Amino acid sequence: MLERKIQISASILGANLSNVEKALRLCEESQVDAIHIDVMDGHFVPQLTFGNKFLADLKKITKLPTDVHLMINNPDRFINDYLKAGADWITIHMEADTHVNRTLHSIKDGGARAGISIVPSTPVAALSEVIDIVDFVLVMTVNPGFYGQKIIPSAIRKIGELDVIRKAKNLPFEIFVDGGVSSKISGELIRLGADLLVTASAFFNADDPKKEVALIRSGT
Ligand code: DX5
Ligand code: ZN
Repeated sequence: MLERKIQISASILGANLSNVEKALRLCEESQVDAIHIDVMDGHFVPQLTFGNKFLADLKKITKLPTDVHLMINNPDRFINDYLKAGADWITIHMEADTHVNRTLHSIKDGGARAGISIVPSTPVAALSEVIDIVDFVLVMTVNPGFYGQKIIPSAIRKIGELDVIRKAKNLPFEIFVDGGVSSKISGELIRLGADLLVTASAFFNADDPKKEVALIRSGT
């Protein structure tokens, strides 16, 4: 048995968005730990998705923490909007911002948890100057922009690299993994050091979503 509790964040992008309320009830019944909201700008990634109004409306109908993944260029311009809309956790991309240190502090000063993410082609070494101020690192294991993609095996290695760094430096950041997560692979991700797993298609497309969440969490 694992001692630490693995958390699951359900990515609402994979739900039937014509009935968001029903999707949220499914998340709650399935005992996920957070709702992952993939904000895409059509520049940093090819697709357009949700904005801060969507987040504010979700907050009115669920008590689950909101895990806002900003896949947008220059996210510093929008942090206040997402804080005001009630974001509990905000992730920005290392590749999308210049003054990353300042943006991460603005998230924390606004009362949210601050995360940094890297796409599969960005090495862990790129995080060296901010790793001590983040609450979590979100390792992208697919190229961001779409749900339902296959996990990129080489990106998985970065979970282990981050785990080594946090132990060596005695840092408190958590490791989140996003992209292609399912119960088939979660055991490996957890063994490498993942604390939270994001899931869209494996959860929402499962015959038994509640069971899939339990299986992803248990890593068996
Ligand atoms: C990809 C998004 C992911 C995505 C995960 O750009 O950041 O959060 O929704 O979807 P699955 O779990 O289907 O790979
Ligand atoms: Zn995401």
